[in-house]
Amino acid sequence: MTDTARADRLIGDILGRIHQAIAEHDVTYEEFQTAKQWLIDVGEAGEWPLFLDVFVEHAVEAQVFGDRRGSQGTILGPYHLPDAPVLEAPFELPRRPDEAGDRVEFTGQVTDEHGAPIAGAELDVWHADAKGLYSGFDPSLPEGILRGKVLTDADGRYTVRTILPAPYTIPEDGPTGAMVHAAGWSPWRPAHIHVIVSAEGHEPLVTQLYIDSSDYLDNDVANAVKDELIVRPRRKEGSDELGFTYDFALAQARAAAPV
Ligand code: DHB
Ligand code: FE
Repeated sequence: MTDTARADRLIGDILGRIHQAIAEHDVTYEEFQTAKQWLIDVGEAGEWPLFLDVFVEHAVEAQVFGDRRGSQGTILGPYHLPDAPVLEAPFELPRRPDEAGDRVEFTGQVTDEHGAPIAGAELDVWHADAKGLYSGFDPSLPEGILRGKVLTDADGRYTVRTILPAPYTIPEDGPTGAMVHAAGWSPWRPAHIHVIVSAEGHEPLVTQLYIDSSDYLDNDVANAVKDELIVRPRRKEGSDELGFTYDFALAQARAAAPV
């Protein structure tokens, strides 16, 4: 199909479904004007990335990666920053001296889809703080905290040390929050740690690990929780740190599309 033909069908179908909803729900002019102003407000507030990643990305992820081999992925979300530094041992994500939240160490192995260890694989890790806020986006946090990359060793093993994040709520004072409230929905995401695992020759894995003790695991506003991604941090013997393990299996890179 040509690009024009695909645009014609896809855009035509999306608009057609909106027209259908207008008819089915007997939409009024007042509702149309409210929706129009709301769309303008989302743009002016810079909330399109947030809105689309919360309410649409999970369907794209399921469509594109529904049949993926290896570990499960989920949505990227709007808070990834690509330039986090590569950390040396003890692989601790940068944090404030008085950073709140339970200390946690997670370890595991990166393999290919057949279980062979991958040395030098990169894990790019980021998460919210104990108030659910992300550095680089919330001006009250120092730049660069709770973000970093680690590489796997010769056996494909990695270690990351950080604190456990809290659940995240989409900003409630903007238009996206107003929409969620208008519909009586919950604005929360369960506590999660973002990871992108990449290695040459393999399909990058964009995923999140969800903390089993968190609220909202079964009521995620972004619909991005998968059972395979729930981790169980437990107190380590003789330590006040929590620990958990998680292994990642990377699928082979997809063949380039024929030109
Ligand atoms: C959003 C926030 C997240 O932390 C996330 O993982 C996914 C989406 C958002 O607000 O759009
Ligand atoms: Fe997130």
